[in-house]
Amino acid sequence: MTNNGHNPTTNLRVLLSGPAADAVAGTLEHAPAITVIHAGSTGNGDLPISADVAFHVLESSSTPGVAEAAAHLRELAGAPLILAAYGEPNGIVETGLAVGAVDVLVLPQPAETLLFAIRKAAKTATGSELGKVLTVFSPKGGSGKTVLATNLATAAARSGVKTLLVDLDLQFGDSALSLAVTPRATISDLATSSGTVDAEKLGAFVSTDPKTGLDLLAAPRRPEEAEVVGQNELAAVLAAARSAYGAIIIDTGPLFDGAMLAALDYTDELLLICNPEVTSLKNVRIGLETIDRLGFARDRVSLVVNRLGARGGVDRSDIEQALDTKVAYELPDDSVVPASVNRALPAVISDEGSSFARAVTALAQAVLPRGRTSQQAAPQRRFILRGRR
Ligand SMILES: Nc1ncnc2c1ncn2[C@@H]1O[C@H](COP(=O)(O)OP(=O)(O)O)[C@@H](O)[C@H]1O
Ligand SMILES: [Mg+2]
Repeated sequence: MTNNGHNPTTNLRVLLSGPAADAVAGTLEHAPAITVIHAGSTGNGDLPISADVAFHVLESSSTPGVAEAAAHLRELAGAPLILAAYGEPNGIVETGLAVGAVDVLVLPQPAETLLFAIRKAAKTATGSELGKVLTVFSPKGGSGKTVLATNLATAAARSGVKTLLVDLDLQFGDSALSLAVTPRATISDLATSSGTVDAEKLGAFVSTDPKTGLDLLAAPRRPEEAEVVGQNELAAVLAAARSAYGAIIIDTGPLFDGAMLAALDYTDELLLICNPEVTSLKNVRIGLETIDRLGFARDRVSLVVNRLGARGGVDRSDIEQALDTKVAYELPDDSVVPASVNRALPAVISDEGSSFARAVTALAQAVLPRGRTSQQAAPQRRFILRGRR
């Protein structure tokens, strides 16, 4: 697997409900880039569920109780509703319009038709494409998660993509320190604030880094404040982030904790970091098994070897053999990295020409959505902007 040019589409959360939901569950569960949430299966009772689309399936278009079900779904998720029914299409359009559905489908339909309707509904709701969520993870501390996350977010912001860096290393996050940003608020402040989280509210809790233009949602100031950040709050934060930013980079801790599980739900591409050391290989191998068990698709996992070439390190082919996985990206061991961390300036700024910065920039170009002012998109405009400065 090489990930150059491979850009998985945004993962969508579909709230599936209705008397005939089981009939399409299998199709949707096997569809790429879809996470199915069964209504009533979250153990949340009537608590809000964060979903991109609600998909309500009837046995026939004359099944009663649709209006009540639609109202309940709206309360639960507030997501655009697709109404689907088996059998004759009689009355489905009227029912759909009456309950405020954004689309109606007469079943059965091929998987592609269902997916198209779902993606279209999600797009209509946000008025645009959702941002891409990239999660940087490693089951071992000190392997370079924060270094990669901060450099990737910086590269993204500098290419003109509206970028949010979310520090989900809730106990010991140091993204703010790495960027020398003094956060005006943290994710625990956001989680304990009153009311629901939307893009506007999120905007009041992020801190903009003047050097790079990226927004940071900082980790709590003290480990004990992490407790207040639950999975429901995180789901709401990430849903809001996706509608407001082009790229969302998530820095994580080394654990499969609640924060990491919430992040996985929204992750489009997981950058799994491994160091060329036996202990790192062992942990990453177990990490990959855990990722499989959690049902996170392997084609969304990109293996990143960081510090390749470090003295006495294992080489690339041994890593691939030990993990039975192809390396997607390589980042060299480079002395500019610790120096840049200590100066609190990402290497892509402080040492633009270094081998590490060039490798991160190449990784960024492969994984990020295209920025409006990136060279490929608008070379002349970029030139004019520069000239005016
Ligand atoms: N490619 C690299 N070359 C040299 N040193 C590195 C490299 N990547 C990371 N480091 C060093 O490792 C340290 C730990 O990295 P960090 O990103 O904080 O790890 P994590 O977030 O996974 O715990 C950094 O402060 C830096 O000094
Ligand atoms: Mg870290």
